[in-house]
Amino acid sequence: MKRVLVATGGGDCPGLNAVIRAVVKRAAQEKDWEVIGSIQSFDGILKEPTEIKILDDAAVKGIHYQGGTIIGTTTKGGPFAWPVKNSDGTWGSADRSDEMIRKLQYLGVDAVISIGGDGSQKISQALYEKGLNIIGVPKTIDNDLMATDFTFGYQTAVQVCTEAVDKLKTTAASHNRIFILEAMGRDAGWIALSAAIAGGAEACLIPEIPYDIQKVKEKLDTRFLKGKGFGIIVIAEGAMPIGGEALAEQSVEVGNPNLKLSGAADRLLYELKEAGVEADIRTTVLGHLQRGGIPTAYDRVLATQFGVKAFEMVLEKKFGHMVAYHHPEVVAVPLPEAIGKQNLVNPNSNLVKTAKGVGICFGD
Ligand code: F6P
Repeated sequence: MKRVLVATGGGDCPGLNAVIRAVVKRAAQEKDWEVIGSIQSFDGILKEPTEIKILDDAAVKGIHYQGGTIIGTTTKGGPFAWPVKNSDGTWGSADRSDEMIRKLQYLGVDAVISIGGDGSQKISQALYEKGLNIIGVPKTIDNDLMATDFTFGYQTAVQVCTEAVDKLKTTAASHNRIFILEAMGRDAGWIALSAAIAGGAEACLIPEIPYDIQKVKEKLDTRFLKGKGFGIIVIAEGAMPIGGEALAEQSVEVGNPNLKLSGAADRLLYELKEAGVEADIRTTVLGHLQRGGIPTAYDRVLATQFGVKAFEMVLEKKFGHMVAYHHPEVVAVPLPEAIGKQNLVNPNSNLVKTAKGVGICFGD
C-alpha cells in the first residue's frame, strides 16, 4: 500500500473535516492507497511515541458537517521551530525538519497533504525544498490568501457575523443604543465588510481603511437626527484610527509567533465617547464563535472540492503545489506563488463601493 499523510495546521476553520473526508473518500477509489493523519499538525510525527490516526471510511463517517478538525491542529512550533526549553527556563527553538522527514520515510509515507494558512504553506514549501512530496490546501476564515478566490471557512464566519448583526439590531433598536461588533480579521477586513453589507450596518471599520473618528461620529449623528435612534458598527479586530495601529499583544502560548489581537471595539467606544457621542454604546466581541461549529453548505462544497483535488494532485505527483479556487475551476498553483501574498480588501473595489452605495460609513 502507498500512504498519504494529512495534517491540519494553524487556527482551526469550519470545513477542515470536510477536506479530510474528501481526501479519504477519493483515495478509497484507488486500490493501493491508505490515508493517515498526524495529530496536531506535524507534532504527531515529531512526538515520541508518534501520534498518528488511521483515516479510513469509519474515521471520516459524517464529519463533513462537524467544525474543528478530527486530527487536531496547533499554531505553535512546527518542524522548523520546535519549542525547546533552555537550561535557564527560557524557551528557544530547534530545527527538527530533517528528523521529521526521516520519520515520515520510516512510516512509509509517500506523500503529505498539508491543510493550513500562509504560515503552514511556508512550512510546506520549505519541506518541499528538502525533498518531501507535499501538497498544500489553503484554509483561513480571514480569506486573505491571494492565490485562491476564496478559502473555505470564510463564508461560515460571515454567516455567524451577519447573524450577530441581525440579533444586535433588534436589541439596539429597542434600547436606542449603538452596538460595536468586533469581527475577526487581523490584516484583512473581509468578514466585517461582508457582514456589514449583509446585516445592514451603519459603519464598517477595517484594517485597509484607517478611520477618522469624526467621520464615524457624523454618520451616527446624522442617523440619530433622522430619528433612527440606534446604530450598528462592525469593526475588524485589526482596524485602526488614522495614524494609529492595530491593538495586539504577544501570545502567552509557548512557540506561538502570532500576535493576539484584541481591544479594537473597546478603543472605538472610548474614541466615540471622547468625540462627544452621547448615546449608550455597547460592545460585542464575536471571537472564536466565528471559527467554531458547522460549516455552511458553500464551505462544505469548497472544502470537498479541495480535498478531492489535493488527492488527485498526489496521484499526478504535482508536489510543491497548492490547491486553489479560480472560479469556476479548482487548480494547482506553485507554492512560492501562493505564499506571502495577502488578499486584502481594495478600498476602490466593487464591494467597498457597494457598501458605500448603501450608506455604510468607513470613517474615510
Ligand atoms: O487567521 C485566522 C484567525 O481567526 C484571525 O482572524 C485571528 O486573529 C486569529 O486567527 C486568532 O488566532 P488564535 O485563535 O490563535 O488566537
